[in-house]
This record gives sequence, structure tokens and C-alpha cells, in this order.
Amino acid sequence: MNKIRLGFIGAGALATTLSLAFKQQGFKITAVSSRGFESAKTLAERLDGCRAAADNQEVADSADLIFIATPDDVIPVVASHVRWQKGQMVVHCSGADPVDILTPAKKAGSQIGVFHPLQTFAAGLEENLKGITFAIEAQEPLLTQLKEMAQMLGGNWIELKSKDRVIYHAAAVFVCNYLVTLTSIAADLWESIDVPRDKAAGALLPLMRGTINNIESIGVTSSLTGPIARGDSGTINKHLTALDNINPNITKLYRELGLNTIPIAIEKGKLNKSQAEDIEQILKQ
Ligand SMILES: NC(=O)c1ccc[n+]([C@@H]2O[C@H](COP(=O)([O-])OP(=O)(O)OC[C@H]3O[C@@H](n4cnc5c(N)ncnc54)[C@H](OP(=O)(O)O)[C@@H]3O)[C@@H](O)[C@H]2O)c1
Repeated sequence: MNKIRLGFIGAGALATTLSLAFKQQGFKITAVSSRGFESAKTLAERLDGCRAAADNQEVADSADLIFIATPDDVIPVVASHVRWQKGQMVVHCSGADPVDILTPAKKAGSQIGVFHPLQTFAAGLEENLKGITFAIEAQEPLLTQLKEMAQMLGGNWIELKSKDRVIYHAAAVFVCNYLVTLTSIAADLWESIDVPRDKAAGALLPLMRGTINNIESIGVTSSLTGPIARGDSGTINKHLTALDNINPNITKLYRELGLNTIPIAIEKGKLNKSQAEDIEQILKQ
């Protein structure tokens, strides 16, 4: 299986992590291309035996399985500009896009698929792929091939249909991208009380880690603590007043998140019906 030759169109954050991980598993990475030559060159230098291709066609011509790891909007452009060969495998790595953006490759006789690692790859940081989930879509025999490749990287897989991809990806945005947004908001609030942002982030991190550890060990609902879980409406009122003085937009967000937190507190069993109604009224004012 790891005799198949891999090629990467795109040499950014995801291509770097995936290609290095596959290389470690014994796959040959034949060629890598990018929009400019520089990133392809940098990545190829890290992959023994791999060349930086002058264009995407060179990657397609050199490999059995080609990963299109460009920005999402560029994938259909690449798919329609490259001359694919019969019997090749062409895969994109977008979370939200359907498999049929690769239709030009299918029409040329290639098998097409999606291989989306549910992980965040910040540029320059090679995240561990072990234990992550890959959302895979393809027809046989490519489907089995991609499942096996996910397992070789130490990951799990789920099969995901094109019609479900957007919701799947929106959920990922909540826990990943918006976690960054929430952290940034919290750091801004601390800055308003004269704690520098970097110090704030350092102090808030153990709290965030503690929450994630709790979710892992006791589940989502049991992990909820804080004023809504306790029914402390006085504290919630104080928060709203203080936040309004700093930035009313943040108060709006606090209200919205709070309203979505009430059902969790009820499910946890700590908030009775009348407390829940009180808090709902305060948050809706
Ligand atoms: N980053 C993540 O956390 C993550 C996680 C899961 C899935 N994904 C998916 O992975 C894919 C790549 O994302 P990324 O974050 O790795 O993006 P990225 O870091 O911005 O890298 C994109 C790469 O595509 C290259 N590129 C742009 N236009 C091109 C073209 N026409 N032909 C060839 N190469 C081109 C860029 O070249 P230059 O370097 O020359 O600009 C760059 O190397 C996306 O589909 C994304 O949804 C990303």
C-alpha cells in the first residue's frame, strides 16, 4: 500500500504536516507544487527524494494519488486546469466542500475523494495527527485506501457525505476558530483592567485546559460550572452592566452564549425551572 506515489498540489500548513507524516510511514512523495515556487521548494527539501515542481501538471504526472491542498476556493480551478490520467486518485482536503468539485478529474477517469483531517494546522507547527478523526468521502476502492491511510497516521475515520459537510465543518469552526475568538475577547477584557494581553492568555490557558480535561473525563454537560450552572443571577447582572460599559457588542455575544448555556445547566440538574426563567429574562433584556 505505501508503494503508491503521492503528490501534493499546495505546500502550505496542511500539505506540510500530511506529507511529512506520510513520508514517515514509508510513502514516496514524488513532487510538490505551490502558487509561487518558494513554499514548494521549502517543503520538497524536507522530503527526501521529492522535487519542487514548476507547475501543478508536473505533480499530477508524477504520482498515483494527488492531494490538492490549496485554499478551498482554488481547488475547482486546479481540478479543471490539470490534465488527469485514467486510474489516478485525486483527493481534496477541504472540510466544507463536496467531492464533486473534482468532477473534471472524474471525467478523465480518475477516482476522486475527500480526506479532511479534523485538526488545526497553524503555519509552522506540525500538529500530531495521532488520535484525530479524518472525514473521508470516496467510492471503492479509493474509500478503503483512504481509511487505511488515516489509520496509518494513527487517526480514526468517519465517512461523511457531501450533503453533510457544511454542517460538520461549521461545528468544527465553533470549537476551533471561535475558541481563538473567545480567548482573544477574554484577553481584551483583561487588557481593559491593565493586564497585558500575553499575560492574560497565559493566565487563562490553565482554565481552558482544565475545561477541556473535564469535558474529556466527565463529558460536556457535567463540565459546566459558573454563574448560570449555579443560578447566580446577581452575578450575571453585574457582568452585563460591566461589559456594557466596555463594549455593548461583547454584551450581545455574552447574552447569546448565556441563552445557549441555560439548557446545559438544566440538563446538569443544578438549575430549577424558575431560576432558568429568571436568567433567561435577564439575558433577553
Ligand atoms: N490549516 C488547517 O488547519 C486545515 C485543516 C484541515 C483542512 N485544511 C484544508 O487544507 C487545504 C489547505 O489549507 P492550508 O491551511 O494548508 O492552506 P495554506 O497554508 O494557505 O496553503 C495553501 C497552499 O496552496 C498553494 N496554492 C495556492 N494557489 C495555488 C495554485 N493555484 N496552485 C498550486 N498551489 C496553490 C499556496 O502556495 P504559496 O505557498 O505559494 O502561496 C500554499 O502553498 C484547504 O482545503 C483547507 O480547507 C486546512
